[in-house]
Amino acid sequence: MSIQVSQVKGDVVELIFNPREEDLRVGETLRIRERDSGEGLVVQVVAFRMVTYPSLIREQLELVIGQVPPLSRELLTYLSEAQDPYKEYDASEARNLKVAIAKIRKLTGRSWDQWDGWIPMRDVDVSRVLDQELFDNCIDDLGNPLHLGQTLRGEPFAIEGHYLEKVNVITGVKGAGKSYLSKVILLELINAGAPCIVFDLNKEYMHLPKHELDPETGDVRTRGIIHLKAGDNLKLGIRQFGLSPLVTMLTKFGLPEVSAMYFENRMARLFQEAWQMERQGRTPPFIGIQHLIDMAEELEFSQNEGVSAAIRSRLEAARNTGVFADQAHDATSLQAEYDKIRYGGALVVDISGLTNMSRQGFVQAIIDSVREICEQELQRGTGRFPFVFFEEAHLYISHNTIGYIVTRSRHLGLTCFFVTNMIGGLDETVLRQVDNLFLLHLPFDDDVRHISKSAMVDQETMGSFVKRLRRHHALILGDVTRQYPIIIKVKELKGIHTAGETQYFFKPKQRGPSAGQPAALQVDAPPGVQKAGPTPHSHGVPPAQPSLPLHGLEETTPEDHKCLARLQARWPDIVRTLRHKSAFLGSVLTAGRPWKFQGQVLSITFTARDTFHRDMLTEPEYRLLVEKELSAVLHQPVTITCHTLT
Ligand SMILES: Nc1ncnc2c1ncn2[C@@H]1O[C@H](COP(=O)(O)OP(=O)(O)O)[C@@H](O)[C@H]1O
Ligand SMILES: [Mg+2]
Repeated sequence: MSIQVSQVKGDVVELIFNPREEDLRVGETLRIRERDSGEGLVVQVVAFRMVTYPSLIREQLELVIGQVPPLSRELLTYLSEAQDPYKEYDASEARNLKVAIAKIRKLTGRSWDQWDGWIPMRDVDVSRVLDQELFDNCIDDLGNPLHLGQTLRGEPFAIEGHYLEKVNVITGVKGAGKSYLSKVILLELINAGAPCIVFDLNKEYMHLPKHELDPETGDVRTRGIIHLKAGDNLKLGIRQFGLSPLVTMLTKFGLPEVSAMYFENRMARLFQEAWQMERQGRTPPFIGIQHLIDMAEELEFSQNEGVSAAIRSRLEAARNTGVFADQAHDATSLQAEYDKIRYGGALVVDISGLTNMSRQGFVQAIIDSVREICEQELQRGTGRFPFVFFEEAHLYISHNTIGYIVTRSRHLGLTCFFVTNMIGGLDETVLRQVDNLFLLHLPFDDDVRHISKSAMVDQETMGSFVKRLRRHHALILGDVTRQYPIIIKVKELKGIHTAGETQYFFKPKQRGPSAGQPAALQVDAPPGVQKAGPTPHSHGVPPAQPSLPLHGLEETTPEDHKCLARLQARWPDIVRTLRHKSAFLGSVLTAGRPWKFQGQVLSITFTARDTFHRDMLTEPEYRLLVEKELSAVLHQPVTITCHTLT
């Protein structure tokens, strides 16, 4: 049996297929073509459901009575040949029938067109859309490809850099791979000659390949990152810092509003005087934070001692952040640093050492400098605008500044990436201006609802995709995909140190699978040869490449053997109990075998033709049901991992 159309409701098509013959995935694109006219629809699978034999027959009969397009002869024959469904599920092929729920996306002809409501009425065939056709219709190529990974079918996947410009959001649950994907994009941008700036909150980007210049000529030897650590090799003079960011910083340190007003008035005059001198061709004296502290002592901001004392104490707090240069030659010229990476490279602005209170003013100062850089590029007509990455922007940028960046980015030329697991931190007005979304696993309804405000795709599709995204997979949609949702596997950065510097109290003492580890792991070696689970990273730093197979690293204890034997013996009961909770889960489990038990982790194996079942079992809702039941049987917490055996 091939894939058959069961019914069309609104923009949803239900397709029946046998997973043993077809391996459909959520996100897959199919074509439903009318045989005689050749007209067709492009549909995309958004979910699956289990179909029981009697309910399918009933549904189909209702459709026939309802004068909806009749049942295909092929499907009828198939169903009538299937065995009695009331017999043991195992014996019946019908247990394998699945319904794929697909959304109608486009009309097909020579090229794809907006769907106008047309649906095929006559005899149809359903086929997969090849990646190349998807690319031809959804991915533009203006000669600036950025290679991000592979499609679900393993084809290399690249987006066009031009369409990545201006506002991008990368989101997903913690640990889903947002920062990793950001690094993939960053390195591709650097490679393509783009200047980038990263606000690094967790020292995550500093280990990427370094930017190297020839000391003699100043030419770029290798493109990479320049690590600028706030308060260390990144210090600013007062004028460079700017008045508004300085006031922000002092206010964060608790400067009362009235004092802030006195301070601002006097500072505005001071800045004015400096500009005046510059206009007259003179060099104004360098202003450091000590000058301001001296001014406060001399009651220059206000004659009121209380006001002056308030200002002075906040200026001292600001000085203690270390981000202010004492002398002109200590100050970092961001323009000069930017010039080093103008033809490819990244300034990694490390703000990890700053306190929460000082971060916002400092970042605001840097953003002001970035704005000046953009204006320079505009004025000169050189157009080397930066790509700016903000990790968890809402923690150190005010909503107003985020709004400013987003609304002004088109005019300024800069492209921004907001990387966050707290999508609620981005306002709806921001989301509505997003050009591209990069979504990783996102299991929470609230987040899905919020991100759907970007109005890129219906909430149903969004929710269905992002809740099911597998490890290291991302859903991309926006200008780079002509708004078509595409799921990719993010490429691996081989030989590049991507880990941050998270410090841990508990260091791993023994190797072995744990609850936090991937549920779906491909084991393509006979039992006993391959050990399950990737090597845990010590302190978040990947160890030297381990050689496989890993012998003797994990021990299966006699107790583990006993547990496995018990689970194997009780497996039919366990499946029966779970089938009462979910018929679909029951049918998924009959395809699996308990294979190994170690360290409270049960490995369940599937044959290569049951990858669909394996994938379904990794869905959180099903996995949790199974883990709960197994834990009850063994009276200890049990987690599961799923494998394919070849
Ligand atoms: N595409 C990928 N290939 C290999 N490892 C990845 C990939 N994506 C993420 N990882 C790993 O998964 C872990 C979590 O990723 P990370 O980007 O830090 O998550 P997040 O920023 O969403 O919290 C990291 O150890 C990272 O190296
Ligand atoms: Mg991260």
